[in-house]
Amino acid sequence: MTSRFGRPALASLGEDGVPLVHTEIPGPRSAELWERDARHHAQNSSMPAQTLRIVLDDASGALVRDVDGNVYLDFCSGIVVANLGHSPPAVVDALRAEAGRMLHFFDFATPPRAEFFEALARTLPPGLQTLQMYTTGAEAVEAAMRLAKSYTHNHEFISFFSAWHGRTLGAMSLMGGFPLKHGYGPFAPGVMHSPNAYCYRCPLGLERARAVRSRAPASSTACTSSPASSGSPP
Ligand SMILES: Cc1ncc(COP(=O)(O)O)c(C=O)c1O
Repeated sequence: MTSRFGRPALASLGEDGVPLVHTEIPGPRSAELWERDARHHAQNSSMPAQTLRIVLDDASGALVRDVDGNVYLDFCSGIVVANLGHSPPAVVDALRAEAGRMLHFFDFATPPRAEFFEALARTLPPGLQTLQMYTTGAEAVEAAMRLAKSYTHNHEFISFFSAWHGRTLGAMSLMGGFPLKHGYGPFAPGVMHSPNAYCYRCPLGLERARAVRSRAPASSTACTSSPASSGSPP
């Protein structure tokens, strides 16, 4: 697939050719398109997107190209979601084939879904063989909350101050004191926040596990922990 601007495919660029930045950042095309986009886009995109203001054109493997032809090395694979590199050919081919067959199937079973469940289940222990599919991280967190409640018949959660769980109400309730939460309360009740494990300078002057355990209500249903944390106070 070539770029919208007739440039050679990214995959054809030799290793010596990248990274390649030949304009100011953002370049003139990015600046113009950003301006058009920003007229209609709520200003809630991530800090790097807001700060860099580059408009992306295409990507391949570890390379991302903006509309001015600047080529960057992407060290976080988009946003750490699928560590496959950008547009891996096998995934793109499978998506193309399926999109041509059926774009939407609600929650009906399909042959690829059955195969996917089996492949995923083979990587999991015997007690973890029942799967639910969701489209976003926040939905998965909400599903985990429902599952924990229905299994334990309890209703309270323990979560950590700097954990990031997503933008839905339940997920936001679990998150700590992010500025993002300001103005959106009240949140779902039944969440106890704990400082993050930081035994080097423990904010409570306590050994971590003891601090959490001593404050946990008896009705706690689950303790959620996010691999993504922010720089907010521990
Ligand atoms: C650890 C973690 N949990 C939940 C989420 C929320 O995912 P989504 O934005 O897809 O709802 C994110 C998103 O960055 C995340 O990093």
